[in-house]
Amino acid sequence: MPTPGVRSGKGGRGGPSGPEPSRLRDIAESRLVRWKTGLDEFDFVLGGGIVPGSMTLVGGEPGIGKSTLLLQAAARLEAAGLPVLYVSGEESPDQLRLRADRLTEDSGAVHVLGETRLDQILMAAAALPAQILILDSIQTVYTEALEGAPGNVGQVRECAARLMRFAKETGIAVITVGHVTKGGGLAGPKTLEHIVDTVLYFEGEGVQDYRLLRATKNRFGSVDELGVFSMTERGLLTVQNPSALFLSSRAVDTSGSAVTALMEGTRPVLVEVQALAAHSGFGTPQRVATGLDQKRLAVLLAVLERRGGAAFSSLDVFVQVSGGVRLTEPGADLAVAAALISSLHNRPAPADVLFLGELGLGGEIRPIATLERRLTEAARLGFKRAYVARRSTARVEGVTLVGLDDVSQLVKTLAA
Ligand code: TYD
Ligand code: MG
Repeated sequence: MPTPGVRSGKGGRGGPSGPEPSRLRDIAESRLVRWKTGLDEFDFVLGGGIVPGSMTLVGGEPGIGKSTLLLQAAARLEAAGLPVLYVSGEESPDQLRLRADRLTEDSGAVHVLGETRLDQILMAAAALPAQILILDSIQTVYTEALEGAPGNVGQVRECAARLMRFAKETGIAVITVGHVTKGGGLAGPKTLEHIVDTVLYFEGEGVQDYRLLRATKNRFGSVDELGVFSMTERGLLTVQNPSALFLSSRAVDTSGSAVTALMEGTRPVLVEVQALAAHSGFGTPQRVATGLDQKRLAVLLAVLERRGGAAFSSLDVFVQVSGGVRLTEPGADLAVAAALISSLHNRPAPADVLFLGELGLGGEIRPIATLERRLTEAARLGFKRAYVARRSTARVEGVTLVGLDDVSQLVKTLAA
């Protein structure tokens, strides 16, 4: 008896052979192999290491440390028995050697090649054979199959697509550097980010030596994970405890400082928010936000003014965040408000207090997600109290919750 709903006859099973789909459960898990670079924070952001046959793009401003990071990774992979080919179209092998000599890692065994023709690069990688191909950078390579100079949109897209195919066909993992434009995006077509498996950004703030590595796309791991490094005379070091680093230069007993805990991917990270409110010289007062959306700052100032009776309208206001971290979640509102109020009244906020809450336009303080994880991190770093929304519930040993209803209560508490 034919099974209902299943058509028999032509086009059914046993017809002319085409590609054969398989059940998901029958697909081998062997793809889940990871090659560890041994740079813990790099591996963490990748989702556990480099996936064979994957293509990763590392973006970042010139001089931030992309080549240094990849050369260090190359040295460690090579030491672990995974052959690496490092192709540089940016620097000559001599220059690479000079950088290599500075590093703690011994990268002597890494194969290097100064080359910009894609076909030659792929041939060299396959001939070695390399298991990891590092290409510094995608903007310097070109294929003779296309007209146009290296770096132009067509070239970048075509080279990326061919590298991706190469990775999938050979199982060689490709990691390529990509330059960023002034706006912070990757130079070249947007499709570049769509083509590759993983996109990482390497960034850092001005003179500070921290470097933050972030995944904005990851087919083999979660996005928005944050890896923290410090740049030293001898290369990049992974930072085991980012919270401690970001709070290390904190000026306790200075007004205008408040600490909050952000979720960076799956990890809580403590950062300091600093604010300075000062009498304006003349004209329209300035509002300058670094690490925080300018519009969010305007909203918070309006709420403080209207709902909290804190008068900022004639003052210049500056806000910044430690470590080059950006406040993208509203849960940091309370800390920004606390730093502002503290500066306005020139009274330091208590040093052992953490601020966690979102501000509504009515001045109400709202609870935030993953409170417990953040409080645990805070407890680890010696924080004793957390100012939170009244409705928040969480139990973490060593940290007492102080519930607040609205911003006027915050003002009263901090100005008292
Ligand atoms: P680099 O890796 O060349 O950056 P990118 O490839 O992103 O352009 O890093 C260059 C900067 O890092 C340069 O200013 C020198 C500094 N640096 C150190 O401070 N210590 C080191 O050990 C190395 C190799 C570089
Ligand atoms: Mg470089």
